[in-house]
Amino acid sequence: MRSTVSEPLPASASAADWWRTGVVYQVYPRSFADSNGDGDGDLAGIIEHLDHLGPDGLGVDAIWLSPFYPSPWRDGGYDVSDHAAVDPRFGSEADFDRLVTAAHERGIRVVLDLVLNHTADEHPWFVASRASRTGPYADFYLWRDASGVDAGGRRRPPNNWRSFFSGPGWEWDEGRRQFYFHTFLVEQPELNWRAPALERAQFEMVRGWLERGVDGFRLDVFNAFLKDPELRSNPRRAGHSAWDRQRHVYDRDQPDLTLLLGRFRDLLDAWPGRMSVGELFDGPLERAVELTREPHLVFDWELLDQPWSAAQIGSAIDRREAAFGPERWPTLVLSNHDRPRHASRLAGSAGIDNSDAVAKAAAVLLLTLRGTPFLYYGEEIGGRDVDVPAAESVDPPASVGDPQFRWWDRSRCRTPMPWTGEPGAGFSDGPPWLRLAPDVATRNVAAQLMDPGSVMHCYRRLLAARRASPALHGGTFERLVTSDTDVLAWRRRSADEQAVVVLNCADRPAEVSVGSTPGHVARAVVGTHLDPPDVFAEASRLRLRPLEGTIAIGSVG
Ligand code: NOJ
Repeated sequence: MRSTVSEPLPASASAADWWRTGVVYQVYPRSFADSNGDGDGDLAGIIEHLDHLGPDGLGVDAIWLSPFYPSPWRDGGYDVSDHAAVDPRFGSEADFDRLVTAAHERGIRVVLDLVLNHTADEHPWFVASRASRTGPYADFYLWRDASGVDAGGRRRPPNNWRSFFSGPGWEWDEGRRQFYFHTFLVEQPELNWRAPALERAQFEMVRGWLERGVDGFRLDVFNAFLKDPELRSNPRRAGHSAWDRQRHVYDRDQPDLTLLLGRFRDLLDAWPGRMSVGELFDGPLERAVELTREPHLVFDWELLDQPWSAAQIGSAIDRREAAFGPERWPTLVLSNHDRPRHASRLAGSAGIDNSDAVAKAAAVLLLTLRGTPFLYYGEEIGGRDVDVPAAESVDPPASVGDPQFRWWDRSRCRTPMPWTGEPGAGFSDGPPWLRLAPDVATRNVAAQLMDPGSVMHCYRRLLAARRASPALHGGTFERLVTSDTDVLAWRRRSADEQAVVVLNCADRPAEVSVGSTPGHVARAVVGTHLDPPDVFAEASRLRLRPLEGTIAIGSVG
């Protein structure tokens, strides 16, 4: 029996559990949809396209909005100059409230991006902090005296900490006659989370968003919030860049971070069902696991860092499963606003021309492994990186120019969403702020809607199957052995249901046997192709086409 699954949200997906059973879709607001023809995406544009995301479209459970706050835009909006407001570029405060209401009407929750590690140097707190060593904002940032002068008479910074975006981490400020620290750009001064007044101010801002109906937060580089209280120098080690030549034991990941996180969670927990997800900055899988305390999830990079190789993806899955264990809940991410789009990255890593086929196969990983999937706008149409000439780059960190810091130009993965094949791709009636992909005339939402074989319909089928299946959205995970090393398989199991997933990662047909799949009658079979084979019926000789994934859902025997 074959069918595509299209059932409504099951009652088992209780509201309080949405962060675990659901799927989150990341919107980069400036590139999603422009409602007023000025070339910049805006909040009203997002409202206009909510049906693409809601139950009649992809059926995601939440949108994560990358920053839409006032910003000098030196770091793609991650340099915030007022965390409690909407940048007029994106619309009005009323537009934000309308967006929350319109999303909630469609059962979509709203997750905001909080950049709490640093601000823009134009933030009023920093303006006040650099103006006075004694005022109310004096200790909101990490200020320190010079530690002396070197042989050439130059002031020596307080310690050896570096900027991740290259160069020294300390910047001398003539006004205050002290150094301030910045992990990222000079224009992104680091906040001092050890100042109680700073914590109060941050929490006050967060409370304001909760009161406006926000359902959760993504915390930018959250493991860097706290620094060593004595600001000790990091120990040295061998490495390729100045950043890598330090063990970052004092400029992030402090022992009392979990206490701070606990206080943050206490604030959120006063509103039921509020989730948070922390972006692990430059740390290993084990650190992500330690900091996961549901409903606080943590992005780790183990899966995202793999090339398209069954062996490497398989062992990354095993490492993650072993590290998180059955009691902790991971995230699933293949693309975001910082990384090459995975249709390009994965297809390129395996030398496969058909990036759409890779995108569909990758969607099987993303939507059927154990964890909460986070999709990045445009991946549902197989969007690829765009060659943006250096002169058009909108990513200043990419042009820092330090040969030791080869930062990838993130303009390439942040280009406007193509909605139609018309001029402006349905994104904007004006000149877009960043160039469109060269293939928007054919690769767009409207075109893929007409094509049942498109990447977008594949996402819709897989998302519907995931939503309807307790095994897929909440079940246990077990890897299954197959007779072909290019073919991965796993089983998800809930109380009454099992789902068996088989994925041919090779660009050639495969005929495999899949270990220990008792021959249940499938309730549903869904996959990358429109007519996927049923592993329950054919476990001993399953034929898969190149890059084909199939998922059979049946009862537990
Ligand atoms: C992490 C964000 O994901 C990235 O886009 C940004 O550049 C850095 N934080 C610094 O703000």
